[in-house]
Amino acid sequence: MCGIVGGIAERNITEILIEGLKRLEYRGYDSAGVAVINQGQLLRERQVGKVINLADAVAAHHLQGNLGIAHTRWATHGKPSEQNAHPHASGNVAVVHNGIIENYQELKQELQQLGYVFSSQTDTEVVAHLVNHALKQTPDLLQAVQSIVPRLKGAYALGIVWTEQPDELIAVREGSPLVIGVGIGENFISSDQLALLPVTNRFIYLEEGDIVRLKRNSIEIFVNGQAIDRPVKELDAAVTNSSKGEYKHFMLKEIFEQPDAVQQTIAQALDADTLKPDFLAKANQTFAAIQQIQIIACGTSYHAGMVAKYWCEQIIGLPCHVEIASEYRYRHPVIVANTLFLCISQSGETADSLAALRDIQRRAKQKHIPIHTMAICNVSTSSMIRETDFHLLTLAGPEIGVASTKAFTTQLAALMLLVLKIGEIKQTLAESLKQDIIKALWHCPKVLNETLKNDTEILRLSSLFVEKQHCLFLGRGTHFPIALEGALKLKEISYIHAEGYAAGELKHGPLALVDNDMPVVILAPKDEMLDKLKSNMEEVQTRGGELFVFADEHSDIHAQDRKHVVHIPQVSEWLAPIIYCVPVQLLSYHVAVLRGTDVDQPRNLAKSVTVE
Ligand code: AGP
Repeated sequence: MCGIVGGIAERNITEILIEGLKRLEYRGYDSAGVAVINQGQLLRERQVGKVINLADAVAAHHLQGNLGIAHTRWATHGKPSEQNAHPHASGNVAVVHNGIIENYQELKQELQQLGYVFSSQTDTEVVAHLVNHALKQTPDLLQAVQSIVPRLKGAYALGIVWTEQPDELIAVREGSPLVIGVGIGENFISSDQLALLPVTNRFIYLEEGDIVRLKRNSIEIFVNGQAIDRPVKELDAAVTNSSKGEYKHFMLKEIFEQPDAVQQTIAQALDADTLKPDFLAKANQTFAAIQQIQIIACGTSYHAGMVAKYWCEQIIGLPCHVEIASEYRYRHPVIVANTLFLCISQSGETADSLAALRDIQRRAKQKHIPIHTMAICNVSTSSMIRETDFHLLTLAGPEIGVASTKAFTTQLAALMLLVLKIGEIKQTLAESLKQDIIKALWHCPKVLNETLKNDTEILRLSSLFVEKQHCLFLGRGTHFPIALEGALKLKEISYIHAEGYAAGELKHGPLALVDNDMPVVILAPKDEMLDKLKSNMEEVQTRGGELFVFADEHSDIHAQDRKHVVHIPQVSEWLAPIIYCVPVQLLSYHVAVLRGTDVDQPRNLAKSVTVE
């Protein structure tokens, strides 16, 4: 989703801004732009399409300056076009914006009556005109911005420059992520620290309501007009590693990183055959008190939550509900005392998940209902981690491909650790089962590695999907969410229409779709549902459907005509979902590559969905 980079330095800033935008490409965008101030002049360049187009234009026109802002736009208001691309300007003010100004229509009318002419269909342009107008009364950029911010409704991050104060950049964070990169004699802003890693590894993470005045040698942060301090944090080297290495795409690299990512995630919690005593120790009292868990998440993270529901109820007998954040936040659910509200998110910045969390916190406080909040998240510096009572990090490292892969497997690993921990505290987990699961968790990275060896076989099968229009994914129990996840992966990167179903639902509708042209992917681990799943496979075969089965090596399922079988190494049934998502990730990846789509940045999608 839209990306912001800005900075002020002694050196020319345009190359830093362009490199920053390239590093934000993974977020998804349709146009890009940059504005710099050079000898009292505002110079702007905007282009539809990839950042490389912008880079070429910037080079061709020798755009240079010491102060600048840049942006990748993901269209919300107004189609992708040069006019709608940021930065937007009004007089000598330029603005980049991430998020949505919800009351822009009303502000636009007011500004039009004052004589301001709009050159775009965006909501952002109102901010440029408002600041320009405020500067006529208050000729100081910081004060002008402070005076207009209370008028903006919605979620936004802003970067603003003005030719009359060429030594400062003003930034605002209200509902959309924004960090400050702290340099030596130069300072920067960005919506993601990854954009600034070539210039610094020291960051200040802004909070909601922060307004910042950035100069070459100073950073001032204001909340409600009062100057405050925020700590500078240094990133370690592991977080800063984000290159594709030998892989053709980030997605493939991230699929192959899963054994390590899962290993890292479990190692933070486990000793040889037990949970570390200090693992989530701060939450011991809370875990003893909770009566149920309510999981809230979006997309892939929601699918991880669905798996956790099975685990939580079957392994430790604790009621667990799961809901998509965009629904939960608007349906005014009853808040039950002693619920653990668990948000799952790779980014920790997903607008719907954060809004649902904040809504629960606000309503519980209003009604004096005791609740607890927790995040399972991959970004230690995210809003979600800051705003919850407890957190458990997935140590997947930066995930750049839009399609979630290692974030998902590490979320599952983290969720299982959480189930074990709560079961241990509540004494609802049989010791022998706990031992079995811990053993299986340690074994998981090895099984993941073995599963990845099926890559060539899966590549071969993927050629059979290239011409298809539709595809079904079927699973049962904990593999129903994996079927949903498989369908999500295939549709988002290959653009083939795919549906995931609980296999037991086949006869209740989707079987009508099955014919010679319908590939049906089956997830068939060896568990108590296997015989029932075999019947479902027969139902598909009888109707001429072509089966692609990912089956346990001991499941007694073998290839036949129009029945392709990839054998998956044996694994504990509790952890099978962590393993069985790998073949569907690989299948989706190879189908997408063969269809020639943009695997890491699929059309219309963004990595971090920071607007509703
Ligand atoms: C799936 O591949 C997507 N990346 C998407 O569904 C994602 O899981 C969703 O947008 C939620 O993101 P989050 O985990 O960062 O909150």
